[in-house]
Amino acid sequence: MSASPPSLKIGIIGVGGISKVHRDGYLAAGAEVVALADPFEFNLRSRQREWEVERAYVDFAEMFADGDVDAISICAPTAVHAPATLAAAAHGVHVLCEKPLALDLGQGQAMIDACREAGVVLQVGHQLRSHGAASLAKEIVERGDLGRVTHLRLRQAHDWAGASEVRASFATKASSGGGTLLDNGCHMMDLARYFGHDVEEVFARTATLKFDVALEDTAHVSLRFRSGALGTVEAAWTGTGWEEGFWIYGTEGALEYTNRLGAPYLRHAYRRSPGTTWGDTDVSEHRFAGGTPHGRHVRAFLETIVGAREPICTGEDGLEAVRLVFAAYESAERNESVRVAEAPATMAG
Ligand SMILES: NC(=O)c1ccc[n+]([C@@H]2O[C@H](COP(=O)([O-])OP(=O)(O)OC[C@H]3O[C@@H](n4cnc5c(N)ncnc54)[C@H](O)[C@@H]3O)[C@@H](O)[C@H]2O)c1
Repeated sequence: MSASPPSLKIGIIGVGGISKVHRDGYLAAGAEVVALADPFEFNLRSRQREWEVERAYVDFAEMFADGDVDAISICAPTAVHAPATLAAAAHGVHVLCEKPLALDLGQGQAMIDACREAGVVLQVGHQLRSHGAASLAKEIVERGDLGRVTHLRLRQAHDWAGASEVRASFATKASSGGGTLLDNGCHMMDLARYFGHDVEEVFARTATLKFDVALEDTAHVSLRFRSGALGTVEAAWTGTGWEEGFWIYGTEGALEYTNRLGAPYLRHAYRRSPGTTWGDTDVSEHRFAGGTPHGRHVRAFLETIVGAREPICTGEDGLEAVRLVFAAYESAERNESVRVAEAPATMAG
């Protein structure tokens, strides 16, 4: 990968949990974080001191008004993604927006339209696309090495690190737009599309089993892809510890990635040698080095801005992930299959 031009000046909107990996990614790629914005002034000032950033604002509008920012990361709650993106586009500033793209499909489309009209990049923070295991898995799938893909299983689960409460900015629909299925599940819906392309229909079950929130903390979705393949997405705030994985099965091979196996590696099972048996197959294991998925995702954003690569995760990709989650919410509500094309545009209420 080529180095990013150090002249790009970055603003970060929202300086909570996820902002650190964005900031680390910019530093590693040679870009300069010049401004921070967050209404929570105590955290804003401590981040400003810790990261030695010159400019800090309690209102992101003032950051744009002052200018001299080429690109931003939006690391604020989902409710802030649309207003911050629209403000950035109005000032000709490129946007790396955290997931999920927006609280509803109309907001998401408005973000896409505004960035397109302004001629700025809109990249969505589905950083698993930048994970070495996912990139290699995509190559293997697209080469046809798995034969016909028959089933994809995708799982992301955690338990808020053992906390007894959901973190405040995720705990209400007004702030986050949904529960675990929109939070972690949108990453898995994005990976489903990344590997398996269009999904036509979903059937979902959701439950609130642990936390005192009016949102689901456990979810399971069955997918039917346009290709005919089937899939499952599992998302939970009721796992124990951090779990993230994907399993892709085809008529000629299978891929398995899970962080539970320790060092990131992709396992590829297939039959080439004579004499393989039920459980005994050929296996290739691929290990990955060279930065975190978040860091690589930030670098991809910078490279897209300077025209050095195609976008890795567009606003449209982010919108489709939200659409799949909304179709799943509708399915869980109605207890029947829902065609993705008929997903509701909003989940208000
Ligand atoms: N890609 C990933 O794997 C990943 C992981 C965690 C979070 N996220 C996403 O990142 C976003 C932030 O999550 P987090 O875990 O950092 O949450 P957080 O609650 O730790 O931090 C959010 C920060 O945004 C600030 N904020 C609130 N309103 C704001 C506004 N109007 N302008 C600027 N800042 C504002 C808050 O004060 C807080 O400091 C969410 O959309 C979340 O879904 C993505």
